[in-house]
Amino acid sequence: MSSAPSTWHYGLVAKWWAEFNEEGPEIPYFRGYVERGQPALDVACGTGRLLIPYLRDGLDVDGCDVSQDMIALCREKAEREGLSPTLFVQPMHALDPPRSYRTIFVCGGFGLGSDRAHDAQALRRFWECLEPGGTLVLDNENPYSSGYPWKFWLADERAALPRTWEPIEEADRRRGSDGAEYALQSRIVELDPLEQRATYEMRAAMWRDGELVREEEHTLRINFYFKNELLLLLERAGFVDVLVHGDHRPEPAVAESEFVVLVARKPA
Ligand SMILES: C[S@@+](CC[C@H](N)C(=O)[O-])C[C@H]1O[C@@H](n2cnc3c(N)ncnc32)[C@H](O)[C@@H]1O
Repeated sequence: MSSAPSTWHYGLVAKWWAEFNEEGPEIPYFRGYVERGQPALDVACGTGRLLIPYLRDGLDVDGCDVSQDMIALCREKAEREGLSPTLFVQPMHALDPPRSYRTIFVCGGFGLGSDRAHDAQALRRFWECLEPGGTLVLDNENPYSSGYPWKFWLADERAALPRTWEPIEEADRRRGSDGAEYALQSRIVELDPLEQRATYEMRAAMWRDGELVREEEHTLRINFYFKNELLLLLERAGFVDVLVHGDHRPEPAVAESEFVVLVARKPA
């Protein structure tokens, strides 16, 4: 088991999240659970896409993330609005928060950067950190979703990996609040279908007045999970009454769902 999760949510990638990722259907979906069960913990809160709107509305939510850069930018954004949340840097498999919670939720963070043993350990930590009767809400992008490289599960397609980079100069640029321009590019490097795991790389660049002033490269490992494996893992961690929603809507998942969301209860 490797000890440090490997994600790309640092430096310019963190900056990109803070600047450009502020919306999405996940925000109202998870909010319902937070409203019904406080205090709540946003695990892998990133730069606060969900956390900050909840805090703005007076909900009692803490946040944690493995990336100190994401947490620093989340704190900066919160402070600009006069908010002072409890935020801490921790990998989810070693979660050790300052209090226990009625709700723990994970949006877009499970299976990133870790190995399977760590992921199973994270579920056990969530169970430990919930109050009796508390709820875990955890989403998972299905491995066959349109956002994932399903074709690389096949041997012929995998043989073409890694794909070559396009020049970063040709990537779409977006202007940040500081006037600089930013671009991100990612590529899949390898996929192991037996272990249900892929490695990606991301390149990030920043331009000022048209001049390239910063370039970075980061690596991300992703563990792919199917619904039934997650159900078994949740059961092994002690959760009961698990519901499976599709695509961040309070409705049962179907074969067309890109995401599943597992809503699991710690026994009272
Ligand atoms: C896709 S972003 C989602 C951020 C936020 N939840 C949102 O939806 O806007 C994934 C986040 O998971 C964090 N992360 C990745 N692996 C983690 C781990 N093992 N423990 C805690 N956080 C992790 C990353 O640092 C990043 O902030």
